Amino acid sequence: KMQRFIDELMRKMTLEEKIGQLNLITVGFDVTGPVVSKDVDANIRKGLVGGVFNTYTPVAARKLQDMALKESRLHIPLIFGYDVIHGHRTIFPIPLGLSATWDMAAVERSARIAAEESAADGLHWVFSPMVDIARDPRWGRVAEGGGEDPYLGSQIARAMVRGYQGTDLSKNNTVMACLKHFALYGAAEAGRDYNTTDMSLPRMYNEYLPPYKAAIEAGVGSVMSSFNDINGTPATGNKWLLTDLLRGQWGFKGFVATDYTAINEMVAHGVGNDAQVSAMALNAGADQDMVGEIFLKNLAQNLKDGTVKQETIDLACRRILEGKYKLGLFQDPYRGVSEKRAKATMMKKEFLDDARAIACKSFVLLKNDNNVLPLKKAGTIALVGPLASRQRDLIGSWSGAGDWKQAVSVEQGVRNVAGSGVKIVTAQGANITDDAQLVERLNAYSGDIVPDKRSSEEMIQEAVRVAQGADVVVAVVGESQGMTGEAASRADLGLPGQQLELLKALKKTGKPLVVVLMNGRPLTLSWEQQNADAILETWFAGSQGGNAIADVLFGAYNPSGKLTATFPQSVGQVPLYYNHKATGRPFDAADPKERLTKYKSRYLDVSNEPLYPFGFGLSYTTFSYSKPTLNTSTLSASGVLEVSVTVKNTGNYDGEEVAQLYLRDVVGSVTRPVRELKSFQKVLLKKGESRTLTFRLTTEDLKFYNNDLQWVAEPGDFQVFIGPNSRDTQEASFRLVEGTAAN
Ligand code: IFM
Repeated sequence: KMQRFIDELMRKMTLEEKIGQLNLITVGFDVTGPVVSKDVDANIRKGLVGGVFNTYTPVAARKLQDMALKESRLHIPLIFGYDVIHGHRTIFPIPLGLSATWDMAAVERSARIAAEESAADGLHWVFSPMVDIARDPRWGRVAEGGGEDPYLGSQIARAMVRGYQGTDLSKNNTVMACLKHFALYGAAEAGRDYNTTDMSLPRMYNEYLPPYKAAIEAGVGSVMSSFNDINGTPATGNKWLLTDLLRGQWGFKGFVATDYTAINEMVAHGVGNDAQVSAMALNAGADQDMVGEIFLKNLAQNLKDGTVKQETIDLACRRILEGKYKLGLFQDPYRGVSEKRAKATMMKKEFLDDARAIACKSFVLLKNDNNVLPLKKAGTIALVGPLASRQRDLIGSWSGAGDWKQAVSVEQGVRNVAGSGVKIVTAQGANITDDAQLVERLNAYSGDIVPDKRSSEEMIQEAVRVAQGADVVVAVVGESQGMTGEAASRADLGLPGQQLELLKALKKTGKPLVVVLMNGRPLTLSWEQQNADAILETWFAGSQGGNAIADVLFGAYNPSGKLTATFPQSVGQVPLYYNHKATGRPFDAADPKERLTKYKSRYLDVSNEPLYPFGFGLSYTTFSYSKPTLNTSTLSASGVLEVSVTVKNTGNYDGEEVAQLYLRDVVGSVTRPVRELKSFQKVLLKKGESRTLTFRLTTEDLKFYNNDLQWVAEPGDFQVFIGPNSRDTQEASFRLVEGTAAN
């Protein structure tokens, strides 16, 4: 039925109108790239626009849709997209924080709420999930993804697609997801945004591509091509990537939009002039040109020159129309939007309650000496630090429709939760950064940093005075929201500005020091780890961030988050990730004989260990793990391995624990990672309760892409590791007695 409808429509379309469908423009209400579209209304009327982004609200959506429906020749509805990344109006923790929940129901729920709100705000299409594996915290966009692991990243990709799209895209409370950034954008060299990626195919297939593939399998409706080049070919003009792999191998049926002016940028990449990159992108499999208008300006001529074929333009146009059809836009181009519906939907209590609960789950307790946390609801608390009272940062980057003025600051949250028995005294203590040039650059986009003009000595002294009169100091420090996200790479991963000096001065007061971190990437926190009494990583926690932080600080919620990206000790260790290869000269820090051995894979000035490993996170309670037991020590190709472990809550609070299972394929036809996450279970255990958890694995879980890109499980020995993080595990082993045929 869909094909018949589209055939009929396309028969009526001129070449110009077909090319118009391939044109995605921004109205510049929100600026998310270096240029803004011009002649928007006129082009819509002429049928030269397929989609619009960076606009929303029922009024704006109706106005533009009316223009297309009533004033363009063929009345083809527009598709409205937007960067709904971690919530629309109700903002959830940044994706890196969401991933730290290890709770797929929570992740899906956040996407579902974002879909409800964005659909009610006139949107059809969200530029999410961002599933780029990232192992380099210098890259600012590490904040926008699910961390470093392909298995966890794949689970998150599926959960997000389910949450946005539901089971029927034509329902008017769903939105089409857009998988991005395809592909390997997170592997930008040196963590500098938009930089080159160069990677072997086996590494791509095993480590970087799985989350994209998972989203395709989950039925994601669209894909966004990335800015970077891959082994010499820009992703946006990469036929192997956008056609052979995406459609040929993975069977993707939706449409591909480029990233912002990514086709034009192929000129700067150095692969051709405007006309050439236009043809290259279309022929590669890019269907819709975001903002660049390069298709609009070149495709007709490309056709005349014979560098593109009519059928390729037709195919791209058909894919866009199919996307609109699946969204039900030809039946109901307004998808039931109204002011009334919007008002009843946005930031409703139920959504805010969920945002608060999900934020609580995203926090990672990194240290808690002498149970300084949870705080007592008594005495005096000094709440200091540049992020203690600010609302602006809580909603993080890519929170376009979020209103930071409605976000709950930490100070407000602490006041809400602490009750009248607690006296709260405050001091800013430091600016987020004192680098005037950086402030100017950040303010050029979000205008949110107003540095205190006092000297840092004065500010620190004031904070010290406040701390001296308190029973405990809670220092809220970190990055501003604009220091992470797109084009926000950093070469230094420490706390910016004088914040570390502030912490050092606070430490000298002798008061218990609780550090609450707000940031969008792994930071280097060695001093903080050695000297603070407690450290709580809260990312940028969303609209309800301050309330959620207070819930955890006072123990209403026992923290259960676990890191999804390794925290290095030093930026010089980057890229540092848990699932690395062994090398031929692995250094074993636990072996005293190795201390003076020179020719080992190690540094002179720092150990190989991370500060906090992947999967790490503490709780107010403690958990013990039994040694894992296996149902068999030999596994056949069709067999099922059952790994059981008993986890006991041995502390004084009820709490959730994420039990993690890793595998090592000891000998392979190619070198294999020292361990890889293959399963996990998040369980709530009451104080004193123990539970036996069983993980079931099949040969599918043992497979990898060999150097011929065959997906195989090879016979031989495997180690299984289970524990609370990727480092502190207990071990068992088994043997796969027969391999699987290569395919
Ligand atoms: O969706 C984003 C993308 O992540 C980065 N460039 C701009 C796009 C649209 O705003």
